[in-house]
Amino acid sequence: MCGIFGYLGKKDPLPICLSGLKQLEYRGYDSSGIAGLSGGKIHSCKEVGKIVGLEKKLSLAPMRLDLAIGHTRWATHGKPTNSNAHPHFDMDTSIALVHNGIIENYDILRDLLKKEGVQFTSETDTEVIAQLIAKCYKGNLLAAVQQALPQLRGSFALALIHKDHPDEIIATARECPLCIGFDDQNTETIVSSDPNAFLSSTPNVIFLRNNEIAQIKRNQTDFFHLDRRILTKKSERIDSEFKVLSKEGFEHYMLKEIYEQPATVQKALLGRLDDENASILLDLQIPEEKLHRLRNIWILGCGTSAHAGWLGTLLFEDLVRLPSTMEIASEARYRNPILTNDTLVVAISQSGETADTIAAMREAKRRGSSILGLCNVKNSALSREADSTLYLNAGPEISVCSTKAFTSQITVITLFALYLARLKGMSESQMRYYSSELKKVPAQIQQVIEQASLLQTIAKKYAEYDDFFFMGRRYMLPTAMEAALKLKEISYVNANGCPAGELKHGPIALINERFPVVAFCSNIQTHEKIASNLMEVKARGAPILAFAPEGMESIAAIADDVFWLPPAIDPLAPFASTIAGQLFAYYIAKERGCDIDQPRNLAKSVTVE
Ligand code: F6R
Repeated sequence: MCGIFGYLGKKDPLPICLSGLKQLEYRGYDSSGIAGLSGGKIHSCKEVGKIVGLEKKLSLAPMRLDLAIGHTRWATHGKPTNSNAHPHFDMDTSIALVHNGIIENYDILRDLLKKEGVQFTSETDTEVIAQLIAKCYKGNLLAAVQQALPQLRGSFALALIHKDHPDEIIATARECPLCIGFDDQNTETIVSSDPNAFLSSTPNVIFLRNNEIAQIKRNQTDFFHLDRRILTKKSERIDSEFKVLSKEGFEHYMLKEIYEQPATVQKALLGRLDDENASILLDLQIPEEKLHRLRNIWILGCGTSAHAGWLGTLLFEDLVRLPSTMEIASEARYRNPILTNDTLVVAISQSGETADTIAAMREAKRRGSSILGLCNVKNSALSREADSTLYLNAGPEISVCSTKAFTSQITVITLFALYLARLKGMSESQMRYYSSELKKVPAQIQQVIEQASLLQTIAKKYAEYDDFFFMGRRYMLPTAMEAALKLKEISYVNANGCPAGELKHGPIALINERFPVVAFCSNIQTHEKIASNLMEVKARGAPILAFAPEGMESIAAIADDVFWLPPAIDPLAPFASTIAGQLFAYYIAKERGCDIDQPRNLAKSVTVE
């Protein structure tokens, strides 16, 4: 998390940094700040909260700067206060520094520095870096960085400036994304956590690898390793996918992105269903022969992407008859997994930057597995490091709460399962059957969207409750977990996803008339079982909202409210149910007056452990 942006060039750095930080706000919005140089002095401005606050403060007291670095923060060490906001400084305000990552030994270093008389003004791990570099500084900023950084444990992307180096920004990274962008004339240089924040003006990009340092000067950037080696790095030219972001008349990005899903699912399918040959066309860089002899699949993801992966395990089991497990990436990275040459690792991430997913993927790669990435963002770390990447093609997802990326993830994972199934002998007629069912999905999604006002009415009724169980079976279990996650993250409501059959093994003790149950009933194979589970909670007084396929009258007889969904085969039922869950969460959050697109404590891209 946290976004870094810096500018050295011929233009006024302030508006460029502010605009870059806005592009990076998805990485955190607890506070933001900018520092720059002019007249041999460091000047800075920081503000708690979103970047509009910083912008407003700067409009009242503008700074004239020759170069600048900026930061948007997702708090790790220390509350979101002004003193904990970046940039951070050394004691003499000679150095200003912005940081993304976590310094694990910051407390030891802080104690050592304090013993040497250094005074700290923040609770952050970042300030330790600024103070440490200042201690090492003897007139050469690059040398000070090379001396200080080997003492740090943990992860970092840094940009820093020094008052005596009016034409220099130092940027360096370990386990965190950072890249340098140049224009064609090499008159402007940008440092940023994400190339998409600058590609429209500076399309030539160099990604920093672990322990590499960029010494950015006017018209020239040199690269070094922390061990002082000089590096030669080549830039790549990346076409801008930059689009002016707009809610296009919707009240929130989340609603806009929910409404986009008939089109985004269609886009994920586009060119991938080959009806003539009853096959799936995927641009895979992993040899077919290797995929043919796979014995198991290990799926990695976090949050919503993990839920997509969980649905993937059911698809691989049902359609391919191939064992697979979904691993929460933050756990997977510290396991001792049994991965063989015949294991495929599928890493799923909207952003392609999630630290835990990347680390688990790297570990699997180190153990010899092939990696297939499912990712939305081009040029992300995941897409650069995976052996092959299937893109979601969902377009930028701006709302922190993931919606359209999820349905695109499950579209692509279904396509991949069908691809493998065909490779392993699925008949042409079966393949054609699934293909025709898949083609119905965009219309099913549209049908739910057209009933958004009904979901709003239902949501109004349920918005007064603070606790919920979301339950389902088989394909409806990850779907229910995902719907619960949506509700909790944007409404701050205690929404627990639970296997319907598991409630009676403990969680049912929580049930009372103030604890509604939201049941996802679209898994036809288990519909009688979920009806029994609903009777059990009804007997304990829980209000019941059911999302059920049209015609499932047994559920209507039990539930207090039913939202009818278009019927679909079990493996594809998650799509329509998910849209209903997203809209339900959206309208509850709206009813409760929450900050829907930027919920508290969250960030879109989770680049720390
Ligand atoms: C929930 C949400 C998160 C992300 C998770 C992984 O709405 O957005 O749970 O799904 O942080 O992010 P990616 O997919 O970018 O790896």
